Amino acid sequence: MALRHLLLLLIQLSILTVHSSSAASCTPSDRSALLSFHSALSEQIHGVFSSWTGPDCCSGWYGVSCDPTLGRVTGISLRGETEDPLIAASGRPGLMSGRLSPDLCRLDRLSTLTVADWKQVSGPIPPCITSLSDLQILDLVGNQISGQIPSSIGNLRRLTVLNLADNQISGPIPPSIVNLAGLMHLNFGNNRITGEIPTAFGNLKMLSRALLGKNQISGQIPGSVSKLARLADLDLSSNRMSGQVPGYLGQMPVLSSLYLDNNGFSGRIPDSLMKSPGLNILNLSTNGLDGPIPDVFGPRTYFTLLDLSNNKFNGAVPRTLTSAAYVGHLDLSRNHLCGQIPAGTPFDHFEASSFESNDCLCGWPLPTKC
Ligand SMILES: *[C@@H]1O[C@H](CO)[C@@H](O)[C@H](O)[C@H]1NC(C)=O
Repeated sequence: MALRHLLLLLIQLSILTVHSSSAASCTPSDRSALLSFHSALSEQIHGVFSSWTGPDCCSGWYGVSCDPTLGRVTGISLRGETEDPLIAASGRPGLMSGRLSPDLCRLDRLSTLTVADWKQVSGPIPPCITSLSDLQILDLVGNQISGQIPSSIGNLRRLTVLNLADNQISGPIPPSIVNLAGLMHLNFGNNRITGEIPTAFGNLKMLSRALLGKNQISGQIPGSVSKLARLADLDLSSNRMSGQVPGYLGQMPVLSSLYLDNNGFSGRIPDSLMKSPGLNILNLSTNGLDGPIPDVFGPRTYFTLLDLSNNKFNGAVPRTLTSAAYVGHLDLSRNHLCGQIPAGTPFDHFEASSFESNDCLCGWPLPTKC
């Protein structure tokens, strides 16, 4: 009797154990899609794919995550930068070549696809990727991805992070991008993107970072940008943009860094930009801006960086800067400014280089006496 009880108990226990560890193993079709993805890539240094063996891709495959109840692959996260534990342990940066296989698109429960900082992954973004309707994070930064951004990118309605920076992507920003209603982080920086920013860009209501610097984007900043109430960082530097710097940029609720440097912007600086209490980083260097620098700074002015160098500003160095709460780095060099540089904070910690190559500035820290 006692033995039978014990046996029953053991059987029950083992059923329990099986149950509690019974995450569904991966479906054969997801496994074969992963193997196709792997076979189009090559990584020799770290053995990133050495764990990609055995029948269950949901257990122990490096960088693969699954939905435990369905046995469906929900994430691929492979990072070649040194923050990744595998990469950090080796002390050598990641290096991977090959392409992104369109077989990825069979992983139709994928919510994260990160293949970042591998330097040599090349070829296009498979257009079928826009059928992955669960995709929330698409991060392919730091490779040699070429070709265009798939035109139906706007189908990825759940996307929150789209990072394609530091690749060789060409062609336009697809107009459909404005349909990504949940997009928070957009980074296309340092590619070869051409054309204009889509007119309805302001539809991206959740956008907090829009980093489009170092491309060949032309045209003006679309007026709809004023609707981006969560936008904190806007980088359009080193493009071919033109037109005026819109005044609303100084009135956006949370905008704190604005890089418009190295473009073809012209006209005057709107007062609002100099008055904005929230704007802490402003680089307008190397444009065609002219007129006087608005003398409207005040006690709420707080700039860690204010770079207005290499434009066509004339008039005096604004005296109200002396009432600013803080100005960390100021660059007014290479303009047509004239007159005495004001004394007192914050001017006492700037160097001559902040004022050089103007028409007739004088006084400390310049060697020219007034
Ligand atoms: C501002 O932009 C210019 C032109 O792109 C660049 O050379 C400069 O380093 C930037 N200023 C700072 C302080 O980052």
